[in-house]
Formats: sequence, C-alpha cells, structure tokens
Amino acid sequence: MINIKSSRDLQRMREACVISARALQIGGQAVQPGVTTGEIDRLIRQYIESMGAKPSFLGYGGYPASACISVNETVIHGIPGNTVIREGDIVSIDVGAAINGFNGDNAATFAAGRVSREAQALMDATRESLYEGIAAARAGNRVGDIGAAVQRYVEMRGYSVVRQFVGHGVGTDLHEDPSVPNFGTPGRGQKLLPGMTLAIEPMVNAGTHEVSILGDGWTTVTKDGRLSAHFEHTVAITPEGPIIMTDPEGKLR
Ligand code: MF3
Ligand code: CO
Repeated sequence: MINIKSSRDLQRMREACVISARALQIGGQAVQPGVTTGEIDRLIRQYIESMGAKPSFLGYGGYPASACISVNETVIHGIPGNTVIREGDIVSIDVGAAINGFNGDNAATFAAGRVSREAQALMDATRESLYEGIAAARAGNRVGDIGAAVQRYVEMRGYSVVRQFVGHGVGTDLHEDPSVPNFGTPGRGQKLLPGMTLAIEPMVNAGTHEVSILGDGWTTVTKDGRLSAHFEHTVAITPEGPIIMTDPEGKLR
C-alpha cells in the first residue's frame, strides 16, 4: 500500500530528512585516511541523537549500527567497525533519521584523499544518475521512468546498475511501497502521484551488476571485486515537481 503524504506530513517529514542530510555531511567530512568506519558511525549517531532524533537503521531487521559504511567494492550495508580508511578509498555512507514519526534516508560516496580517475568518474556518474532519476520523478510519470532514466545514464558510460537492491517509498516506515528500481522501462509501473515520498538510490558498479552478500548477512560486495558507488535522496512528488527532502540546506521546520 502506498502512503500519500499531505503537505503537513511533508513539513513534519522534512525535519527527519534534513537531520539525515546533515548527518550524512558530518559523516562525509570525517572520511579521511586513518579514520575507522566505526568512528564515523559514532559521529553520525551522536549528531542524530543530539537533534532529538533516532537513527532509523539502528536495530532495523537486526542491523547493528546507525549508518551503513561501504568501502570500495562494498556496494551497500557495510557494517561500521575497525576497518581503517586508506588514501584512495571511496566510501559510501548511507544514513537515515527518524523524528515526528517520519524517516529520512540518504546516501553518498566520498573520496578519502586523492582517488583514481576511474574512481572519481564512477562517483560522478552515480551522483549524476541520481539527479536524472529525480528529474523523472514527476506526477503523471511512472516508476519505470525513474529507473529507465538512471539506467540509461549509467549504461551509456559503461557502468552497470545493481538489480538485487532497489529504492523504495519512505515515510512513517523506512521502507514503504512502491519499490523503485534503478532500471526499467519508460511508461511502466506504478503511476507517480503528488504526496508520494521516494528514496531514489542508484547503486552503480564499475563492472558486473552482480553482487554477493557476505556471511554476516549484510555486507554486499561486487561479485567481480570492482568498485561501486551509491547516492540516495528522499524525494517528494508534488504538483510543482520533485522536491529533494534531504537537501542539507533545507529548513528544519
Ligand atoms: N538506505 C538503506 C535502504 O534504503 C538502508 C537500509 S540499512 C538497514 O534500504 F539497516 F536499515 F536495513
Ligand atoms: Co534507502
């Protein structure tokens, strides 16, 4: 079932989204050679809790941390811990916060020091593909238009989109209907309606789209060991077009 949010709901949800966005910024600024992923997770958790919000991921399906921190060939759901970040790594941080009964959800990939041209190009293409998807998130379009826009942008550059994991509705629950794949056929799927809030989140691999899940049940890596990047925003569909709810410059109330 798809939950349609009123403009008042969107106002309340905005606060969760802006806290999520600022938590992501704080995490991104902490990405430096020598820092552990566990230290970054702690900073993120402290910030979210200092705002009176809750980390949405902590305890979700048994997930043990506040953020997912995924280095290099790790696509998503990297569990923060003793992993030391090194110069040249690319580090994906995914974080959500809940307050007022609503969740925000966003992610970005950050460079640790100087990274290879290949790594930088992958990150750039993934970020840009997210904005292609957001531009397609207009009332009257369909979910397939979002996925098709992302997929076309990514594959034109010789990369692949992960299929095993997808974006999703987000609101009172972290994961709501509909699923929002990063691939698809224009004009197909659920019609986009004003008041829908979607987490659009391309996961883009340098090589094969195939992934494996490690024995911890979470850590998801590329099957070929090549790099992966991940960018995500929570987006509201409105009659005036898509609104990026997880804009860090957004108003808290
Ligand atoms: N942003 C991810 C998602 O949309 C976060 C899930 S991690 C979990 O699914 F721990 F919360 F499951
Ligand atoms: Co998400």
